[in-house]
Amino acid sequence: MQRYLVAMQTQHRVILGSSQKMSELGDGCVQLMVTSPPYPMIAMWDELFCKADPKIAELFRELNSDGGEETVRQIYTAMHEYLAKVWQETYRVLCDGGIACINIGDATRTINGKFQLYPNHSRITEVCEKIGFTTLPYILWKKPTNKPSYKGKGAFLGSGFLPPNAYVTMDCEFILLFRKGKLRKFPPKDALRYESAFTKVQRDKWFSQIWAFKGTRQTNSELERRTAAYPDEIAERLIRMFSVKGELVLDPFLGSGTTTKIAMQNERCSVGYETDPNLFPVITKKIGKTRLGINLEIIKR
Ligand SMILES: C[S@@+](CC[C@H](N)C(=O)[O-])C[C@H]1O[C@@H](n2cnc3c(N)ncnc32)[C@H](O)[C@@H]1O
Repeated sequence: MQRYLVAMQTQHRVILGSSQKMSELGDGCVQLMVTSPPYPMIAMWDELFCKADPKIAELFRELNSDGGEETVRQIYTAMHEYLAKVWQETYRVLCDGGIACINIGDATRTINGKFQLYPNHSRITEVCEKIGFTTLPYILWKKPTNKPSYKGKGAFLGSGFLPPNAYVTMDCEFILLFRKGKLRKFPPKDALRYESAFTKVQRDKWFSQIWAFKGTRQTNSELERRTAAYPDEIAERLIRMFSVKGELVLDPFLGSGTTTKIAMQNERCSVGYETDPNLFPVITKKIGKTRLGINLEIIKR
């Protein structure tokens, strides 16, 4: 088995445009997708969904005037239809056996006096299964919560200490895992695959269902906070669990560029899509412009 003593040359592309059409990528050319989309029904993403789809903006206007539950259902569905176009494109560009990892949180929201859960993780699972993905066991990312506090304020919602009207606190996000087609096949003793092996300690930790760690959330700038960047650790684990050195990792919702940065550090190639032009300086700052053995191309559509 050949050993690689120097860091391998990798290629990276950041494409400033929508991943609903990834015309830069041929069928089957990506081995792994790692991403976190805008979360449907979380208020901070309403504006993005409204700008991206005028039908959603129109439904919000209707909601303000009629307050109907049917309109809320239509908004929720339309937001997932927006994301579904990206899951469909991801399916096309993934190779046979390629893995898709989607970090998503469910949403809770009170609209016109009605509090309810919007289970984004189950809606995405249904959509991905319809597209043809095989659903794999998922990971729960348990995030630290605020300390419980008195009179129902703080971490716990609802009616304080009196049954039955209090709500369970949501302190987990999902990392959904899907595969396209059958298991990937490799030649025996494939050198790069062996180079990419993880240790037993890593295997035991990374392949357990609950990941409990503090988000090393990026707090460099207001703009970066608004992208809701995931911690480097999430991208690092997923890239090392599900790809081999030199392979191509896609992030169709690149945000501040975390996936690209971690792919670079782990000798994977990468391609990321981002629609918000305000994030470009954030991305270039995060990934660093020039590094030895790294070829970075920024493509404006
Ligand atoms: C939750 S953030 C991603 C955060 C990222 N994981 C990070 O660590 O910085 C989602 C991003 O998707 C971008 N986005 C939304 N729709 C898009 C589309 N159709 N194509 C590409 N990017 C899109 C948004 O502008 C936003 O920056």
